[in-house]
Amino acid sequence: MDALTSKRITVTVNGEEIEYDVEARRLLVHFLRDDLDLTGTHVGCDTGNCGACTVLYDGVLAKSCMLLAIQADGAAIETVEGLAQDGELTALQQSFSDHHALQCGYCTPGMLMSATALTGYVNIVEAVKAASGAST
Ligand code: FES
Repeated sequence: MDALTSKRITVTVNGEEIEYDVEARRLLVHFLRDDLDLTGTHVGCDTGNCGACTVLYDGVLAKSCMLLAIQADGAAIETVEGLAQDGELTALQQSFSDHHALQCGYCTPGMLMSATALTGYVNIVEAVKAASGAST
Protein backbone atom coordinates (compact mmCIF):
# COMPACT_ATOMS: atom_id res chain seq x y z
CA MET A 1 0.00 0.00 0.00
CA ASP A 2 1.23 3.47 -0.70
CA ALA A 3 0.56 6.70 1.15
CA LEU A 4 -2.00 7.88 -1.41
CA THR A 5 -4.17 4.81 -1.15
CA SER A 6 -3.71 3.91 2.50
CA LYS A 7 -3.78 5.55 5.86
CA ARG A 8 -2.56 4.51 9.28
CA ILE A 9 -5.46 4.60 11.69
CA THR A 10 -5.63 4.27 15.44
CA VAL A 11 -8.84 2.71 16.58
CA THR A 12 -9.97 1.13 19.81
CA VAL A 13 -11.75 -2.15 19.13
CA ASN A 14 -13.42 -3.89 22.03
CA GLY A 15 -11.25 -1.93 24.42
CA GLU A 16 -7.95 -2.59 22.67
CA GLU A 17 -6.16 0.23 20.88
CA ILE A 18 -4.93 -0.84 17.47
CA GLU A 19 -2.80 0.91 14.86
CA TYR A 20 -3.30 -0.39 11.36
CA ASP A 21 -2.57 0.59 7.77
CA VAL A 22 -5.83 0.40 5.85
CA GLU A 23 -6.70 1.01 2.25
CA ALA A 24 -8.61 4.25 1.85
CA ARG A 25 -11.53 2.42 0.26
CA ARG A 26 -11.72 -0.45 2.78
CA LEU A 27 -15.08 -0.77 4.48
CA LEU A 28 -15.14 -0.95 8.26
CA VAL A 29 -16.91 -4.32 8.13
CA HIS A 30 -14.13 -5.82 6.01
CA PHE A 31 -11.48 -4.28 8.25
CA LEU A 32 -13.12 -5.89 11.27
CA ARG A 33 -13.70 -9.27 9.65
CA ASP A 34 -10.73 -9.71 7.35
CA ASP A 35 -7.97 -7.66 8.96
CA LEU A 36 -8.82 -8.14 12.65
CA ASP A 37 -10.48 -11.57 12.28
CA LEU A 38 -13.56 -10.39 14.19
CA THR A 39 -15.91 -12.46 12.10
CA GLY A 40 -18.89 -12.08 14.42
CA THR A 41 -19.80 -8.95 12.49
CA HIS A 42 -21.57 -10.29 9.42
CA VAL A 43 -22.13 -8.96 5.93
CA GLY A 44 -25.67 -9.49 4.75
CA CYS A 45 -26.89 -6.98 2.23
CA ASP A 46 -23.83 -4.70 1.94
CA THR A 47 -26.28 -1.85 1.30
CA GLY A 48 -27.13 -0.64 4.81
CA ASN A 49 -30.51 -2.36 4.99
CA CYS A 50 -30.25 -5.60 6.96
CA GLY A 51 -28.25 -4.65 10.08
CA ALA A 52 -26.16 -7.83 10.21
CA CYS A 53 -23.03 -5.67 10.28
CA THR A 54 -24.14 -3.45 13.18
CA VAL A 55 -21.47 -2.34 15.64
CA LEU A 56 -21.23 0.41 18.21
CA TYR A 57 -19.23 3.41 17.04
CA ASP A 58 -18.38 5.62 20.02
CA GLY A 59 -21.41 4.07 21.70
CA VAL A 60 -23.78 4.78 18.82
CA LEU A 61 -25.22 2.13 16.52
CA ALA A 62 -23.55 2.05 13.13
CA LYS A 63 -23.78 -0.20 10.12
CA SER A 64 -20.18 -1.06 9.44
CA CYS A 65 -20.87 -1.76 5.76
CA MET A 66 -21.69 1.92 5.36
CA LEU A 67 -18.48 3.28 6.88
CA LEU A 68 -14.93 3.31 5.66
CA ALA A 69 -12.34 1.95 8.04
CA ILE A 70 -10.52 5.29 7.93
CA GLN A 71 -13.64 6.91 9.40
CA ALA A 72 -13.01 4.87 12.54
CA ASP A 73 -9.69 6.63 13.09
CA GLY A 74 -9.75 7.83 16.70
CA ALA A 75 -13.05 6.09 17.45
CA ALA A 76 -14.02 3.28 19.78
CA ILE A 77 -15.68 0.36 18.03
CA GLU A 78 -17.47 -2.41 19.85
CA THR A 79 -18.35 -5.65 18.13
CA VAL A 80 -20.27 -8.67 19.32
CA GLU A 81 -16.97 -10.25 20.38
CA GLY A 82 -16.59 -7.48 22.95
CA LEU A 83 -19.85 -8.21 24.77
CA ALA A 84 -18.96 -11.28 26.85
CA GLN A 85 -16.26 -10.72 29.44
CA ASP A 86 -13.99 -13.55 30.59
CA GLY A 87 -16.33 -16.07 29.00
CA GLU A 88 -19.36 -14.70 30.83
CA LEU A 89 -22.26 -13.78 28.57
CA THR A 90 -23.96 -10.47 29.16
CA ALA A 91 -27.49 -10.65 30.52
CA LEU A 92 -28.71 -9.83 27.03
CA GLN A 93 -26.73 -12.62 25.37
CA GLN A 94 -27.94 -15.06 28.02
CA SER A 95 -31.51 -13.95 27.46
CA PHE A 96 -31.17 -14.43 23.68
CA SER A 97 -29.87 -17.93 24.36
CA ASP A 98 -32.55 -18.75 26.92
CA HIS A 99 -35.33 -17.61 24.58
CA HIS A 100 -33.77 -19.08 21.42
CA ALA A 101 -34.07 -15.53 20.06
CA LEU A 102 -33.07 -16.05 16.46
CA GLN A 103 -34.33 -17.10 13.10
CA CYS A 104 -31.39 -18.45 11.11
CA GLY A 105 -28.91 -16.70 13.42
CA TYR A 106 -27.03 -14.82 10.72
CA CYS A 107 -28.15 -11.40 11.93
CA THR A 108 -28.01 -12.27 15.65
CA PRO A 109 -24.75 -10.34 16.22
CA GLY A 110 -26.34 -7.23 14.74
CA MET A 111 -29.46 -7.72 16.82
CA LEU A 112 -27.38 -8.14 19.96
CA MET A 113 -25.47 -4.93 19.26
CA SER A 114 -28.71 -3.07 18.51
CA ALA A 115 -30.34 -4.39 21.68
CA THR A 116 -27.21 -3.54 23.67
CA ALA A 117 -27.54 0.06 22.54
CA LEU A 118 -31.22 0.05 23.55
CA THR A 119 -30.66 -1.23 27.06
CA GLY A 120 -29.98 2.29 28.26
CA TYR A 121 -33.51 3.25 27.23
CA VAL A 122 -35.44 1.14 29.70
CA ASN A 123 -38.75 2.95 29.23
CA ILE A 124 -38.61 2.52 25.45
CA VAL A 125 -37.85 -1.17 25.83
CA GLU A 126 -40.72 -1.52 28.31
CA ALA A 127 -43.06 0.26 25.87
CA VAL A 128 -42.09 -2.10 23.04
CA LYS A 129 -42.51 -5.13 25.28
CA ALA A 130 -45.93 -3.93 26.40
CA ALA A 131 -47.04 -3.27 22.82
CA SER A 132 -45.82 -6.68 21.64
CA GLY A 133 -47.88 -8.36 24.35
CA ALA A 134 -50.92 -6.28 23.49
CA SER A 135 -50.87 -7.20 19.79
CA THR A 136 -50.57 -10.97 20.17
S1 FES B 1 -24.53 -5.75 5.65
FE1 FES B 1 -26.66 -5.25 5.69
S2 FES B 1 -26.70 -3.33 6.72
FE2 FES B 1 -24.60 -3.77 6.52
